[in-house]
Amino acid sequence: MISLENKSAIITGAAMGMGKATALKFGKAGAKVVVADMNEEEGNKVVEEIKSDGGEAIFVKVDVSNEESVKQMVQKTVEAFGKLDVAVNNAAITPDDKPIADMDFDYYEKLMSVDLNGVALCLKYELKQMEQGGTQGSIINTSSVSGIRPQPTNPAYVAAKHGVIGLTKQAAMDYSPKGIRINSVAPGAIDTPMLRGALDQFGFDPDEYAKQLSMLGRFAEADEVAEANLWLASDHSSYVTGTVLNVDGGYTS
Ligand code: NAI
Repeated sequence: MISLENKSAIITGAAMGMGKATALKFGKAGAKVVVADMNEEEGNKVVEEIKSDGGEAIFVKVDVSNEESVKQMVQKTVEAFGKLDVAVNNAAITPDDKPIADMDFDYYEKLMSVDLNGVALCLKYELKQMEQGGTQGSIINTSSVSGIRPQPTNPAYVAAKHGVIGLTKQAAMDYSPKGIRINSVAPGAIDTPMLRGALDQFGFDPDEYAKQLSMLGRFAEADEVAEANLWLASDHSSYVTGTVLNVDGGYTS
C-alpha cells in the first residue's frame, strides 16, 4: 500500500469526479487532505467521507481562475496543516464543441482562465510555499489526451490541455534542482460528471464513444486515475519529473 502519511495535499476540483476519487484515496493513504473546489456543498460531503473513514480533511472554497482565491487556498492549507507537500491541480470546465471559425471567444477565454491559467496560478503559489518551506514536494497537473493530440472541434480545451503539459515541463525544469517534482496525468475517457455531461450535450452514444476512445473498449473509473495520482504524489515515483502519464486505455498509443 502506498502511504502519504505525514504529507498534506491540496486537490483542486475535489468535489466531484477524479478530484473526489483522488481526495478519498489520499485520505485513505494517510494524507491530510484539502478538498478545494467552488462547490461547497459537494466538497463538504467529500470531507465528511474522508473523516468518517478515519482520515483528516478540510474544505477550502476556491476559484482557481482568481489569483487572490488561489493564494488564500495555499495560506489556509498551511494554517491548517503547517506545510504543503502535494498538490493535484485538477479543476477544469467542460470543452465547448465548435470548430475554430465558429467558436464563442467569450467561452474560449473563460475556459482558458480555469483550465490553463488556473493551473498556472496554483503552481505559482504552491511552488512559492514549497520553496519557502523547504519541502521536497510533488505536484500533479491534470491534462488530458486532448493535451497530446487534437480532438474534433475542441480548440479551447485542446489548447489549454497542451498548455498544462508545457507548464508542467517548464516547472519541472525550474524546480527539480530544489527537489520539487512536477508531473502531468493525461486521462482518456473517464466516467465522471464532466464526461457524462459532454456525452448528453453532444448526443454521443456512450458505448460507441468508449470503443473509439480506448483500446480496452470501456470508460475508466475515476479511481483508476486517482491511483496514478497517488503513485506520482508518493515517494515511490521519486525519480519521475517533467513527464506525462497517460491513463487512457491505450488511446494515444
Ligand atoms: P468534473 O466536472 O467531474 O469535476 C470538476 C470539478 O472542478 C468540479 O467539482 C467543479 O466544481 C470544479 N471546478 C470547476 N471550475 C472550478 C474553478 N474555477 N475553481 C475550482 N473548482 C472548479 O471533472 P472530471 O471529469 O473529474 O475532470 C477532472 C480533470 O480531468 C479535469 O482537469 C478534466 O479536464 C480532466 N479530464 C477529464 C476527462 C474525462 O473523461 N472526464 C478526460 C481527460 C481529462
